[in-house]
Amino acid sequence: MFDDVAPKYDVVNDVLSMGQTRRWRKVVVEAVGVSRGQSVLDLAAGTGTSSEPYADSGINVIACDFSLGMLKVGKRRRPDIDFIAGDATRLPFADNTFDASTISFGLRNVNEPKKALAEMLRVTKPGGRLVIAEFSQPVVPLWRTMYTEYLMRALPAMAVKVSSNPDAYVYLAESIRAWPDQDHLAAWLQEAGWESVTYRNLSGGIVAVHRAQKPAGTATDPAAGAAALANHTGPVAKLRRNIARPGR
Ligand SMILES: C[S@@+](CC[C@H](N)C(=O)[O-])C[C@H]1O[C@@H](n2cnc3c(N)ncnc32)[C@H](O)[C@@H]1O
Repeated sequence: MFDDVAPKYDVVNDVLSMGQTRRWRKVVVEAVGVSRGQSVLDLAAGTGTSSEPYADSGINVIACDFSLGMLKVGKRRRPDIDFIAGDATRLPFADNTFDASTISFGLRNVNEPKKALAEMLRVTKPGGRLVIAEFSQPVVPLWRTMYTEYLMRALPAMAVKVSSNPDAYVYLAESIRAWPDQDHLAAWLQEAGWESVTYRNLSGGIVAVHRAQKPAGTATDPAAGAAALANHTGPVAKLRRNIARPGR
C-alpha cells in the first residue's frame, strides 16, 4: 500500500491536512531537541520528509522504513540522507546507538506497535529521547464530531480526486479511529520501559506528540523487552490486511 502512494505522498498529505503537517513537523523537531553532531533515528521515515529538518541542521539522521517504494522516492529527492530499509519490529541497529529516536505518523501503521516501542528503546542510548507524532483524539466533543465527519466523509471523497489510491485514505480514516487515545499510548510507552512520558496535543488533539526518555545508566535487556511485548498485534493491523486484499 505504501509503495503505491509513494510518488504523490507528500503533496497529497499537504492537501488533505490543509497545510497543517508543516506546523506539526516543526513541533516534533523541537521536541527531539538534538544538536549538530548527534544522531537521530527517524523510523517509518517514508520519503524522508520527516528526516529533512535534521539533515538540514547537520544532525546525523538515519531514515529507516520498510517500503522500498517510499525509500526510492526519498533517496531521489534527498541523496544526502541515509535511507535504510528496515522493519520497525526488528531494527537493523545495535543497542544504544542513537541520541534520539522518533517516528512521525508511522507507529499506527506498524503491525506490532508495542514491539516497535521496545525496539526503539533498545537502539536509543541511555538517557536518550523518544518523540512520537501520531494522529489522536480531539479533546473537545464538538471539535471531535466535526473532525470525525471530515475524516470519515470529506477526506475519502477528496482523496478520490487527488490520490492514485483512494482506498489508502479510507484506511487512513479508519486506522485513526481505531488507534488508542493519548493516555492509552502513554501507558504503552511506560509498559515498554520508557520513562518521563508526556504528551502535547496539536490542533486540538488531532495530533499528539508524545515524549519520553530511556532510563539513564541502564543497559537495555532487549530480550526481556521484546519478550514482554511479543505477539501484540496493534489495533490497525486488521484494517490494513483488508485494504491489501480488497473484497475481504
Ligand atoms: C504515513 S507514512 C509516514 C512517513 C513519514 N514519517 C512522514 O512523516 O511523512 C508511514 C510509514 O510507515 C512505514 N511503515 C509501516 N510499518 C512499518 C514497519 N513495520 N517498519 C518500518 N516502516 C514501516 C510505511 O512504509 C510508511 O512509509
